[in-house]
Parts: sequence; structure tokens; C-alpha cells
Amino acid sequence: MAGELEGRVALVTGSAGGIGRATAVMLAAMGADLVLLDLKKDAMVEVVREIEAAGRRAHGIAIDIRERAAVRAAIAQAEAELGGIGILINNAGVGAIGPGEVENIGDDDLERMFGVHVMGAFAATQAVVPGMKARQWGRIVNIASNRGQVGFTDGSHYSGAKGALIAMAKSWAKELAPSGILVNAVAPGVVRTAMTEAHGMDTIIEEASWNLMNRWAEPEEIAATVAFLVSGAGAYYTGQVLCPNGGDPIVGI
Ligand SMILES: NC(=O)c1ccc[n+]([C@@H]2O[C@H](COP(=O)([O-])OP(=O)(O)OC[C@H]3O[C@@H](n4cnc5c(N)ncnc54)[C@H](O)[C@@H]3O)[C@@H](O)[C@H]2O)c1
Repeated sequence: MAGELEGRVALVTGSAGGIGRATAVMLAAMGADLVLLDLKKDAMVEVVREIEAAGRRAHGIAIDIRERAAVRAAIAQAEAELGGIGILINNAGVGAIGPGEVENIGDDDLERMFGVHVMGAFAATQAVVPGMKARQWGRIVNIASNRGQVGFTDGSHYSGAKGALIAMAKSWAKELAPSGILVNAVAPGVVRTAMTEAHGMDTIIEEASWNLMNRWAEPEEIAATVAFLVSGAGAYYTGQVLCPNGGDPIVGI
């Protein structure tokens, strides 16, 4: 797949670390120029440097994705610099931090969960879709979660936001297919990143034991699924949910 995204510009949100960083680096290795967007400026600048060192152009946007008007303006500025964005990966995300029982989830945590995952994905998508339509080509991938498919005890705000990302991908797929824009979701199982490490290695090991392979995924294994979807090999996929989850859960939605 090396070189196959030559001439494409890809935007990956939440790309300072974890799955987003691995995806941005992989798409750059396939030839794309990258727009990175993340709260964490210093870590993002390192990814910008890594991509530039690999010979691709990269533009970093240090912003909270919940600032939707500013996000749309910053993406327009990035497009003026690098060219029209043809690939969008809605990846920025946060884990639950407060109590997870439904009656105890705080308003701030609830708003943050939907603000980052759902409203953030809307802002980025709204910013790039007009250009994709004008060019009659686009690829959008929403990073959801297995928890958005089968639910999760003590985390219904996370599961709800991830389920929304799946429904948004299916809806956008229907709406945008006539414009040559393919939209899919990727629903990973447990991946070792800063998000999961925040809950401790014991939790990662326990959650990994729920799947058929009895191991967690590395971020690059999720990035590979995204790379497939935006490559020529993924050209007949839209409105689908791909599930790199080690066999847990096996679901049919
Ligand atoms: N790690 C897992 O087990 C797992 C499983 C399923 C789905 N996911 C999803 O994968 C995506 C990536 O998560 P990860 O595991 O790589 O975690 P991560 O914490 O390493 O990466 C998330 C990135 O999003 C950024 N981000 C968070 N809030 C933001 C905001 N308001 N504005 C801009 N950027 C923001 C963070 O700074 C971080 O760089 C998330 O959507 C997550 O929900 C992760």
C-alpha cells in the first residue's frame, strides 16, 4: 500500500498518541499528507516532526475539539495550506473518569463524553464534507468501540457516545455515497494506550482475557484496519463496522 495515498490529505483527530498517532503515521507511510488535531500540543508536534522526517507534509492543530466553530476554522486554514482533505478519521476520544453507574454520572462527564466523541466528530465532518462533495471523493472513518455495540456496565455514557458514532457512520454512508464519499466505523476491543493505561495494567490484562486471543491490541493493529478502509482495497465498503477485537465480542451489527 506504500504510495497509494500519494496526493491525498488526511485529517486524524486525537493524533498526539495512541491509535490516532499510529493511524497518522501509517497513512503518511502510504503517501498521504497529514493534518493532526489534538489537545496535547507538545506530543502532537513530535508526531508532526516524525511525519515530516518521513518525507510527508504535516500540519498540527492544537485545539479542544469541543470548540466546534474554532475547529471548523482551523481545518479550513489547514486545507488552505495542504490542500483539500479527502480522508477524515474521527478518533479523538476520552475514557470515563468519574463514577460510572448511570445515576452517578456527573453532568460534566456526560457533556465531555458526548462533546468530544459525538459533537467533535460532527464538527470535523461538517468542516470537510463540502470539499469532499465538490471533489466527489472522500473517506471517513469513525473510531467507535466494542462497547458501543454490546453495551458496558458502569459506562453507559461512553457506550452511548460510541454507539452514536456507529449510527452516524451508517447515516453519513447513506447520505454521502452519491457524492463518492465512503463512511465506515471501526470498533476496537481493548488496546494498550494512554487511555487504558490510566486504569492500570491489571484492568488491561483482565479485559484482554475476555477475548478469544487473550491479549490486548497494539495501536498499529487498529490503524491497519483504518488504513485498509481508506485504501483501494476498501473501496467496496461503506456503512460497515469493522471490529478488530480479538474475537470479543463476536457481534453481527
Ligand atoms: N484504547 C482502547 O482500548 C480503545 C478501545 C476502543 C475504542 N477506543 C477509542 O479509540 C480512540 C483513541 O483512543 P486511544 O486509546 O488511542 O486513547 P489516547 O488517550 O491515547 O488518545 C486519544 C487522543 O484524543 C485526544 N483528545 C482527547 N480529548 C480531546 C479533545 N477534547 N480535543 C482534542 N483532542 C482530544 C487526546 O489528547 C489523545 O491524544 C478513542 O476514540 C477511544 O475511545 C480505544
